[in-house]
Amino acid sequence: MSAIIKPTNGHSGSPPAATGASRPVTVPDFLAARSRGTRLTMLTAYDFSMARLLDSAGVDGILVGDSLGMVVQGQADSLAVTLDEMIYHTRMVMRGCRRALVVVDMPFMSFQISPQQALENAGRLVKEGGAPAVKLEGGVRSAEMIRAITTADIPVMGHVGLTPQSVRRLGGFRVQRDEAKLLEDALAVEKAGAFAVVLECLPNDVAQRITNALKIPTIGIGAGAGCDGQILVTYDMLGLYDELRPRFVKQYAEVGRQIVQAATDYCREVREGQFPAAEHGFR
Ligand code: KIV
Repeated sequence: MSAIIKPTNGHSGSPPAATGASRPVTVPDFLAARSRGTRLTMLTAYDFSMARLLDSAGVDGILVGDSLGMVVQGQADSLAVTLDEMIYHTRMVMRGCRRALVVVDMPFMSFQISPQQALENAGRLVKEGGAPAVKLEGGVRSAEMIRAITTADIPVMGHVGLTPQSVRRLGGFRVQRDEAKLLEDALAVEKAGAFAVVLECLPNDVAQRITNALKIPTIGIGAGAGCDGQILVTYDMLGLYDELRPRFVKQYAEVGRQIVQAATDYCREVREGQFPAAEHGFR
């Protein structure tokens, strides 16, 4: 591990793109990056080791996404993920992060009932998980929940377009094309006090026009290069999860294949008596 992660002055060794400094990235840094035209980078993490690796690579933000329901828990969607599970994963990620801004997803039914429920549960993510910021899905319909949370000074990232918690109503993970509705949603999220908004799975030109219409940064996933930043599910971009292969994912590594190869080699060597060798034991 120490060969991979090379900390400098207690922080990550890679150039900190959004802030221009080796200190932890803050919510105002996200807004400043938008004004400067610096592209923001975000990836998901669900545990200490992955968070530490991504943080050392200089990523600006880490999302503890409820996508963990699929890529970690093996469920068909994210709907069954609980608030207690999100708190558990947030604690692990927080221990691995020194610089990236950590944002934590509010899972399905942890905020939909009322602004009071949303605020109480965002408060639990902050107090019990250590979350610096939360994310919740929905535009106009979630605006009053975002307002309640931001009024308590908990930073909120919005999420419009394809909102995975709506997968059953949408009938699948589909591209969202109703530009008027998407713009109305994004503007509602901004007006309610969100500091950034994820735009998921919409046509590039629509995402570009929404980005132009907003003052807060847009973080795209399947929304083209016109957004202020990008996010991917780390398991997708590393080739660790192949149940779904969305068109918008670029696979940067084949870690899944390497794991299978390594485990195959290990099994063979143990069976053939090659491992452990003399240097792996004690005299
Ligand atoms: O849960 C998640 O990982 C997300 C990203 C797809 C943005 O919400």
